[in-house]
This record gives sequence, C-alpha cells and structure tokens, in this order.
Amino acid sequence: MDKIVNNKIKLEFLSKGENVALARITIAALVSQLELTLNDLEEIKVAVSEAVSNAIIHGYRNQPEGIVTLIGILAEETIYLEIIDQGIGISDIEKAMEPAYSTDPERTGLGFVFMQSFMDEVKVESKVNSGTKVSLTKKINTENKNRAVS
Ligand SMILES: Nc1ncnc2c1ncn2[C@@H]1O[C@H](COP(=O)(O)OP(=O)(O)OP(=O)(O)O)[C@@H](O)[C@H]1O
Ligand SMILES: [Mg+2]
Repeated sequence: MDKIVNNKIKLEFLSKGENVALARITIAALVSQLELTLNDLEEIKVAVSEAVSNAIIHGYRNQPEGIVTLIGILAEETIYLEIIDQGIGISDIEKAMEPAYSTDPERTGLGFVFMQSFMDEVKVESKVNSGTKVSLTKKINTENKNRAVS
C-alpha cells in the first residue's frame, strides 16, 4: 500500500441484496473525491458489486443475518477496497476464480473475471466455515481525465 492514506472508510451492513447498491453508491461517493475517469468509476462500481454480491449470495447463502464489511482506502495514486464476510468460505480459491466456474448452476461464474479485468489486483483470502476477504486494488490514471461528477 502507498504510505500516504488520504481517506479511509469502513462500512458494515447486513447481507441483504438491497445493500449491494448501498455498497456501490458508497464507494462511488468515496472515489469521486479523486479525479477519476468515468470509465474507472464504472469499473470500480462493477467490481464492488460483484464482490459484495458474492459475500451475500455465496458467503451467507442469501441469509440476511450475516455482516458484510466494506473498507475503502484512498491513497496517493491507488484505491484499495476490501470486502469481508464471515460466511462459508471457499475451499479451492484457484478453482473459484476460474472463468465460468460457479458452484451455482444458475449463475455464469464471471464475478471474479470482472473483478480481475477491472481492477489491477485481486487477492482472495478464505477459510472454510470462517469467511472470505477479497482485496481489490486499482491504480488511478490521473492523466487524460474526464472527471466524473458523482
Ligand atoms: N464470498 C464468498 N464466499 C463463498 N464462496 C464464494 C465467495 N465468492 C465467491 N465464491 C465462490 O466462487 C465462485 C465463483 O464466483 P464468481 O463471482 O466468479 O461467480 P458466481 O458468483 O458463481 O457467478 P456470477 O458472479 O457470474 O453471478 C462462486 O460460485 C462461489 O462458489
Ligand atoms: Mg459472483
């Protein structure tokens, strides 16, 4: 992580589907403090939505009593995000991150693919029956900016 942290937020919310939008809007508001391109803003919003959806749908199996923790850090040229659940965990992280792999036959298995293509780094730490932490990093391109308004 960059040494200089300019801002940091931590949000905890119940594992309810409606909180995906809450998480996305919160992070969009946070990163709007930077001079981001609209494209970067959209990519960050998708990555957060995918990680939070996974915590709710898979981590907590759609049970609404779980707690999801979202951390957002703005450093000099980097955005760091963490999405943490105390859910079922992932037994084989490598397999879970394969494109089109899903434990749910109704889903497409593309969440991690989006996170990886939209962010510069995606790190997953997980323990079965204990929970999962997804760490997302994005470097900010401060050139050629087309500043997002909100
Ligand atoms: N927080 C989590 N807790 C437990 N399992 C997870 C978690 N996040 C992901 N997984 C596992 O990793 C698999 C792949 O996740 P990914 O987001 O790529 O696809 P998906 O959620 O199954 O489908 P999609 O995101 O396209 O709807 C999931 O099917 C699930 O088994
Ligand atoms: Mg997913």
